[in-house]
Amino acid sequence: MKSPIRVAITGAAGQIGYSLLFPIAAGHIFGPDQPVILQLLEVPTPEVLAKLEGVKMELQDSAYPLLKDIVCSGDMDVAFGDADLALLVGSRPRSAGMERADLIKVNGPIFVGQGQAIDRSAKKDVKVLVVGNPCNTNCLIARHQAKRVNPNNFTAMTRLDQNRAKAQIALKAGVDVADITKLAIWGNHSPTMYPDYDNARINNQPLTEIITDRSWLDGDFLKTVQQRGAQVIAARGASSAASAAWAAIDHAKDWYRPTPKGEWVSMAIPSDGNSYGIPEGLIYSFPCEVDIYGNYHVVQGLSITESAKAKMMKSAQELLDERAAIADLLV
Ligand code: NAD
Ligand code: LMR
Repeated sequence: MKSPIRVAITGAAGQIGYSLLFPIAAGHIFGPDQPVILQLLEVPTPEVLAKLEGVKMELQDSAYPLLKDIVCSGDMDVAFGDADLALLVGSRPRSAGMERADLIKVNGPIFVGQGQAIDRSAKKDVKVLVVGNPCNTNCLIARHQAKRVNPNNFTAMTRLDQNRAKAQIALKAGVDVADITKLAIWGNHSPTMYPDYDNARINNQPLTEIITDRSWLDGDFLKTVQQRGAQVIAARGASSAASAAWAAIDHAKDWYRPTPKGEWVSMAIPSDGNSYGIPEGLIYSFPCEVDIYGNYHVVQGLSITESAKAKMMKSAQELLDERAAIADLLV
């Protein structure tokens, strides 16, 4: 029997948490022969911790063979203690009429303390996925505080955007989502993100040879993917949860295994300053490939049109502006 992997999850009693914990316990990230220990963090008030106990009861009642322990805590050092993987979800979601960047002042400070606690208590090679919005800049904040951890181990989630883009293309082209590959997201998890249809493929043919309606690609398609989070909030009265949880599973799972040939994964990662003109240090979403367990690199050498380049730089500029807005959290 392998020794258990410790997964820390913040905001575990929230709506994403409720959709996220059960598939992890069932083996959806690490596979059917890898035991896990869940280390759940919530705000340390009696009401919220009582709710978290209820989630723990349901995890126990599911009798997952791979689930070796469930730790519930309001203490960051307990929750991040020896963690191999940390999923930073806990933070306030936006409500109708807000942009994700509007959350920066209320959510940003959470990631200062959590970055420090990860630095103190998690394994040195911990991998971190930030989901809480604005996730790219929150990731930047946490990473800045965790000097002991490899900066490249801090990532933010644009996989939901990739999944959304694939779903829209599948509907338009009348194909399965599995037929669509290399449909990457560039930039920020925000309305400036750019889903790159020029480099994408359907059944290994260029997407633009199959969907020839450029006005749809540049119009409804882009708008739908960029605004999908707001559309879900308007329809549900709450931000996306099950699809976000599933995207987090996809992101983490794909980080631990080589990317299949012919596919890419979208991950917001620390920009190295040498890829596609994106300024160094921003947490920016690129098309990535994982070569060995946990080691990813940016797919290089893609042809980028002038119009795509302008969109990519607009998103980079937005991230520079977000970084400037939280400069006090980076000292
Ligand atoms: P939610 O309000 O249902 O749950 C959030 C939970 O976090 C709550 O239980 C709350 O008590 C907890 N929390 C708040 N501050 C905390 C802290 N400092 N430490 C630990 N726990 C804390 O919200 P949700 O719907 O689960 O969404 C969570 C976050 O994920 C939001 O910021 C939302 O915008 C974001 N999100 C991101 C994506 C993405 O694609 N990146 C997708 C969907 C949602
Ligand atoms: C999403 O994309 O659904 C999330 O980021 C939630 C939001 O505020 O849009």
